[in-house]
Amino acid sequence: MTDTPFISPEKARELAKRFGTPLYVYDENALRRAAEACLAFPNAFGLTVRFAIKACPTAAVLKLFDSMGLHFDASSIYEVRRAMHAGIAPEKISLSTQELPLEFSDEIKAGIRFNACSLDQLERYGSAFPGTRVGVRFNPGIGSGGTGKTNVGGPDSSFGIWFEYADAVRFILKKHGLTLERIHTHIGSGSDPVIWQRAALASLEMVKKFPSVDTLDFGGGYKVARVHGEKTTDLRTCGAPVRDAIAQLAEETGRKLHFEIEPGTYLVANAGSILARVQDVTDTGKFGRHFIKLDMGMTELLRPSLYGAQHPTAIVPSLQRANTPPRGEVAYVIVGHCCESGDLVSCAPGEPEQLAGRFFHEVEIGDLCLIGGTGAYCSSMSAKNYNSFPEAAEVLLQADGNARLIRRRQTLEQMLQNEIA
Ligand code: LLP
Repeated sequence: MTDTPFISPEKARELAKRFGTPLYVYDENALRRAAEACLAFPNAFGLTVRFAIKACPTAAVLKLFDSMGLHFDASSIYEVRRAMHAGIAPEKISLSTQELPLEFSDEIKAGIRFNACSLDQLERYGSAFPGTRVGVRFNPGIGSGGTGKTNVGGPDSSFGIWFEYADAVRFILKKHGLTLERIHTHIGSGSDPVIWQRAALASLEMVKKFPSVDTLDFGGGYKVARVHGEKTTDLRTCGAPVRDAIAQLAEETGRKLHFEIEPGTYLVANAGSILARVQDVTDTGKFGRHFIKLDMGMTELLRPSLYGAQHPTAIVPSLQRANTPPRGEVAYVIVGHCCESGDLVSCAPGEPEQLAGRFFHEVEIGDLCLIGGTGAYCSSMSAKNYNSFPEAAEVLLQADGNARLIRRRQTLEQMLQNEIA
């Protein structure tokens, strides 16, 4: 993949002129298509698709998914508040968090759903809300992620309650008169579908131990191909055996479990691109490298520096030279604007420190660069304000072809507003 599917060179030039760079651009049609694919996830007795807010918490994106009937997975109380601020009904928000704050009662009273992710969280919830219904996140004992940093299951992972502690869970439930209504697992991002299926079937075994459970939440983690050679998980194939196992359980026991999934990446990754400008082109001599320096970097896109993640890149020549015949191809290393050699856009797969060249016809200062696959964990997960670069603006390319500003570019005043000199 060397091109970014939804932005033509003309559109890229128009957006850069109108909104400036760097700019996150989301495509409404692509967001809708991804949501529809998730809503078709195989299920036997009903499905709730929760968008993992952390992937892209911008209000306009949340509202779009809300209008399509999606619910939401929050990973902190702040995400809960942010979603509520965007107008999402509290009943549609589920909180599964590594850090349950001391004060969480208002949101629970407002109607959000909660999955206790540790025994202590369950105890605290039970003390505050005895006699209510609650969910529990279990660590099913296996995990799988695209990288070690995104694997959140198995003995090396602190996420969820270890599956062997079912008796301790039962004890706390009883102590506070709680009813366990939902079992939740999430084993990683970029999970191997086969391991995901094993984890899902392991959750089903947990369900058998807790007769009150009526909902199984399988988390997210479905793979998305951003560049050639990567593979997107086929949701239908992946979910079918789990649906069948749940149908079988219903035949045996009469229990008709509701399904939940919580994709983040799958819903937004390929619906977003970053539009940047080439602000310098340098080289290190005859036997050295050629570099493209962009006006963005780890301040907008941290995934290459963090995981060695691959994102497709395309150059849009400036209008002056768009009609002149392209010159020869050169292998360019694409770097960001931060003062670190680790601020690399084109690294080798899985190797954040290893430079990798991308071939382009000779690039010039002023050209635009599109970086694809950047809808998930980019604007929400970056080295914000490093080197005091302001947060980039965001636009939504609407289905009618118009671009709408959905987040303004940060100003210097906003960056400094909490400082006390
Ligand atoms: N549910 C829970 C409880 C999660 O912790 C996550 C992601 C998701 C759902 C959504 O997972 P997804 O479908 O997006 O894989 N920053 C990384 C991914 C780590 C996400 C952590 N939790 C990335 O850039 O790929």
